[in-house]
Amino acid sequence: MDNYTYLKKYSKPEDLAANLARLENGEPIQYILGNVNFYGYDFTVNNSVLIPRFETEGLVEKTLKYLAEYHLTNLRILDIGTGSGCIAITLKKELPKADVTASDISFAALEVAKENAIKNQVTIDFIHSDLFTNIEGKFNVIISNPPYIGYQDEVMDIVVKNEPSTALYAADDGYAIYEQIFAAASKYLEDKSLLAFEIGSSMQERLKKLATEKFPNSQIIFQKDLAGFDRYLFILNNLE
Ligand SMILES: C[S@@+](CC[C@H](N)C(=O)[O-])C[C@H]1O[C@@H](n2cnc3c(N)ncnc32)[C@H](O)[C@@H]1O
Repeated sequence: MDNYTYLKKYSKPEDLAANLARLENGEPIQYILGNVNFYGYDFTVNNSVLIPRFETEGLVEKTLKYLAEYHLTNLRILDIGTGSGCIAITLKKELPKADVTASDISFAALEVAKENAIKNQVTIDFIHSDLFTNIEGKFNVIISNPPYIGYQDEVMDIVVKNEPSTALYAADDGYAIYEQIFAAASKYLEDKSLLAFEIGSSMQERLKKLATEKFPNSQIIFQKDLAGFDRYLFILNNLE
C-alpha cells in the first residue's frame, strides 16, 4: 500500500485533509499518524525521536538469542540513547524479570519513551544522561543504537528534514559515541556481560579495531541485517 492510500485508510476523517498536506510537505507518515509498530508492540512517535527502524528489531532479536544461548540471568540492562524507548521497552516485554534502565540526552525523547512505557504497561528506570554521566551501578547488558552518521555523510532528505539531528549524527565520522561507550563501559559492566550495538553498514573494520583495543579478551562478533549489510556488533565478556 502506498503512503497516500495508507494515510487515507488510517487517518481520522476529520484529520485527513491536514494529514495529506503534511505528507505532501515531506513529513514521514510515522510522525503524521504518530504511531509505529516495533517487534509487535505499539509506540508513539513524534519528531523528538528517531522513527524505530526494522534493522533495530534485528538488534533486539539477536540480543535475545545471545541472552538465551549464554543463560544470562538476573538481567540488569542499560539501553543508551533510548529515543522512543523501542529497544528498552521491547526487551522488558520479552524479559519481564529483567531490570531495565534507559537513558537519553534528550528530555523530549525521554518524555516520549515514558509515554511508551505506560502504553506498553512496563516499568523502566528512565534517566536523563549524556552517555554514562548520570548512570550508577553495574549491568550485564549494555545495548545501544547510537547516532552513527558522520557530519559529511549523505542522508536522505526526508530523514535530515524531519528526524532529530541528535539522534542521527556523531563526531569523528560517526564513530564518536561508540568510542566513548567503549572507553567508559568497563566500569559499568559485570564480569559476565554482553554489549550489543547497531552499527552503520560500512563501520565494521574500524569498530573491530576499536573494540579489540578496549576489550582484548572478549569475543567480538559482527552480524548482518536482513539486507545482508554488517549491522550489529556484539561484545561478549566472559560468556561461555
Ligand atoms: C539513533 S537514535 C536511537 C533511538 C532508539 N534507541 C531507536 O533505536 O530507535 C539515538 C538516540 O541517542 C540519543 N543520544 C545522542 N547522543 C547521546 C548522548 N551523548 N547520551 C545519551 N543519548 C544520546 C539521541 O537523543 C537519540 O534518542
